[in-house]
Order: sequence, then structure tokens, then C-alpha cells
Amino acid sequence: MELLVVDDPGALAREAAARIADMVAERPDALLLAATGETPMGSYAELARLRRAGTLDTSSLRVAQLDEYRDTDASDPHSLYGWMDRALLEPLAIDPARVIRFAADEPDAELACRSYDAEIVAAGGIDIAILGVGLNGHLGFNEPPSSADAPTREVALTPESVESNRAYWAGSTIPDRALTAGMKTILATRRAILLVSGPRKAGILDRVLRSAPDPWLPASHLHRHPDAIVIADRAARPVA
Ligand code: F6R
Repeated sequence: MELLVVDDPGALAREAAARIADMVAERPDALLLAATGETPMGSYAELARLRRAGTLDTSSLRVAQLDEYRDTDASDPHSLYGWMDRALLEPLAIDPARVIRFAADEPDAELACRSYDAEIVAAGGIDIAILGVGLNGHLGFNEPPSSADAPTREVALTPESVESNRAYWAGSTIPDRALTAGMKTILATRRAILLVSGPRKAGILDRVLRSAPDPWLPASHLHRHPDAIVIADRAARPVA
């Protein structure tokens, strides 16, 4: 797994967006697996800027959700789909017909996960994944422990993850279950970019970089990915 350290969050956003834009130039109908969370927001804003500048054509780009809270629907502003819609789909003019999403309100979670996977297979697989890492090492909502072949599934969120979502759920009950693309799906992407920003992530990034693939540190499975890069800013990777 390659590591690229850049100066600051702005440079991180530009670097990640440039890599996505290169992929889209090569393959205009690329399928992008897109994390939500704070870390990729600058990159998505930069993609929107490139589109406005006329240097990025997103008219055929396709997007897949990485994870979703259980029992939310696409119209729920708290849903991760709602977040992705505001941050990525709307600014890049990506029609919902070009989005693979979780039917998180489907009572049968197994059915929702199998149909998500089937849509990804039918779409020809994921070309590029934009990922963030949780303070507990999760990728998507593959909480520790998650094996490298963990399937797309319903998961119980760890107390740390529930806590870190608190800010987004002011006044409402924070969900403690989610659907997530499995580690197996993440590791099958053609290219994976893990974005890591800020001093709060320095400890977990150091562990991920040093660790052999370990179910207790799900992001460490990326060492097995054939084309994965970590792009970190200096605050997240102060040591060489
Ligand atoms: C969200 C997701 C999560 C986040 C992770 C980091 O779709 O996949 O794994 O990437 O929790 O979140 P931030 O970027 O907010 O620190």
C-alpha cells in the first residue's frame, strides 16, 4: 500500500480529486464507491469545482453508497444517502438512476445487502473507492473485528462509532445499526484511496500502516489490496 503525505487538507482534497478526475477521463462511466464522513468533503467540493470549470465531465459517472444507517430512507436528511446527495450527487449532477444505494428501510436486511451486491456485479464492479478511516480502524461500517472476506451485511455499530455520529443526530436517537459494503467488496475495487486528515487520526493511521492485515483493525486489510494508496495530510502523518 502506497503512502502519500501532503501538506494540508486543501492539498489532500486536490490530490484525491485529481486522481478521481483522471479515472473519469479514462473511463467516463466509472463506478465510484463514495464514503461520507468529514474527510472526503473537501475532495467532493474540489470535484464540483473541476466540473464547474469544465475540466471534469460527470455526465456518465456512476456512484455507489458505501454504507447506510438501518431504517433510514433516501429522503431522510440524516441518512448517509442524504449527506452524499448534498455533498456529491447534487454538485456533480449525478442522477439517482446512476446511484447504487442501500435499501436500508427494507425489513429484510439480508435481501437489501444481496440486492446491493448484485447491482454492483451487474454494473461491472467498482472502479475506484474513496474511503475514510474511523478512530477504531473501521472502513465503511466494517467495525472491528471484520475479516478480509466479510460480506456486505447488517452490522451493530460499536459504542465509539455511535458516539462519533452523535453530532449529526442532535435531538434524535442515534442509530446503532447500519448496512455496509463488506470488506470483500472494498478489497475487490480496482483502485482504493484512503483519505486521512488531522491530528486526531495520526494514531490510528500509524497503527494501520504498521499492522499486518488484522480483523481487529479493518483498514489494515488494505495492505492486501492490489492498488491502494493512503493520502494523508501532515497533521495525520507527522513522522516520515
Ligand atoms: C462513512 C464511512 C466511515 C467514515 C469514517 C471516518 O460513509 O464510511 O467509515 O469514513 O468513520 O469519518 P470522518 O471522515 O468523519 O472522520
